Amino acid sequence: MGYKVAVVGATGNVGREMLDILAERRFPADEVVAIASRRSMGVEVSFGDKTLKVKALENYDFSDIDICLMSAGGAVSKEWSPKIAAKGAVVIDNSSAWRMDPDVPLVVPEVNADAVKGFTKKGIIANPNCSTAQLVVALKPLHDHATIKRVVVSTYQSVSGAGKDGMDELFAQTKAVYTTGDIEAKKFPRRIAFNLIPHIDVFMEDGFTKEEWKMMMETKKILDPAIRLTATCVRVPVFIGHSEAVNIEFADPISADEARNILRNAPGCIVIDKHEDGGYATPYEAAGEDATYISRIREDATVENGLAMWVVSDNLRKGAALNAVQIAECLDNRKLISAKKKAA
Ligand SMILES: NC(=O)c1ccc[n+]([C@@H]2O[C@H](COP(=O)([O-])OP(=O)(O)OC[C@H]3O[C@@H](n4cnc5c(N)ncnc54)[C@H](OP(=O)(O)O)[C@@H]3O)[C@@H](O)[C@H]2O)c1
Repeated sequence: MGYKVAVVGATGNVGREMLDILAERRFPADEVVAIASRRSMGVEVSFGDKTLKVKALENYDFSDIDICLMSAGGAVSKEWSPKIAAKGAVVIDNSSAWRMDPDVPLVVPEVNADAVKGFTKKGIIANPNCSTAQLVVALKPLHDHATIKRVVVSTYQSVSGAGKDGMDELFAQTKAVYTTGDIEAKKFPRRIAFNLIPHIDVFMEDGFTKEEWKMMMETKKILDPAIRLTATCVRVPVFIGHSEAVNIEFADPISADEARNILRNAPGCIVIDKHEDGGYATPYEAAGEDATYISRIREDATVENGLAMWVVSDNLRKGAALNAVQIAECLDNRKLISAKKKAA
């Protein structure tokens, strides 16, 4: 007998992807329940070759749910994750609400799968920010080999990272450019069509944005508190797929060839690195894929033991839905949970 799984936020970008990934990977679920806000009650979403009718969060009793995949934003998670966990479900949350809570593990299975066992304290496991997830997948194997001291990262983040409204805004503005209609900026602080915006999430007192702060703090929590990281996060007019230009300073020597070989054998990583036209990954090819792609690996002679590289992944998959399902798989593989029906 399998698990009963709830997907909260099932009508959103991440929630729909969660349903696809649960079906694709044949997660051992007997039943999957799609949940969203009251606005979406009765809306149909796909799950494999089935359709599910969406239920409203406030009307749902979670007592028979084993695993709840949450992707309905921070405010909803703050209120609902503890209530759902109190009903005996393990909550795997995609928002930023619980990531820095010391009693909540923050997990990327390729990097710190063992941390999942910490879920027992609050019944909640957090997923990192989408930009952090792909970054730590690429950094971990290099850190194990040569110990990372400092990272400088600039991100090129797609509009789907801002939810379905973000995708709609890029589409509407692009169309308006060609039809000479009005270009309205509602979701993003400036026009995003044919533009770039060096601002994601709110500003902090020190001038960094919250998105940049999340990358710094989450990398420390997942990978190593000794790593110093500075980030510049930029929104770009790409629908799906985040890209990152990364400069790394190591304690020990590491060549570009060594890094390429290490990453070729690392879980979740695919190296595409030919010194020719098109010999690298772009977000267009990464969309719909599970891997984190690493390209343009080269030695950076401006610092001792420096490397530069380009990292691309599908933000809705490795950056969110896939990572959440992989966490659920870790719980199952390690027999850390059992289906309530089976236990009864
Ligand atoms: N997109 C990414 O790359 C990414 C990556 C990592 C983490 N995340 C996080 O994942 C979460 C969802 O992101 P998204 O991109 O999927 O956003 P989205 O496309 O805007 O979808 C939001 C989902 O949340 C539901 N929701 C909103 N308010 C609700 C309420 N009061 N009660 C129940 N459900 C409610 C929406 O339901 P309705 O359709 O009924 O409104 C919808 O299903 C966010 O916390 C985001 O930060 C996103």
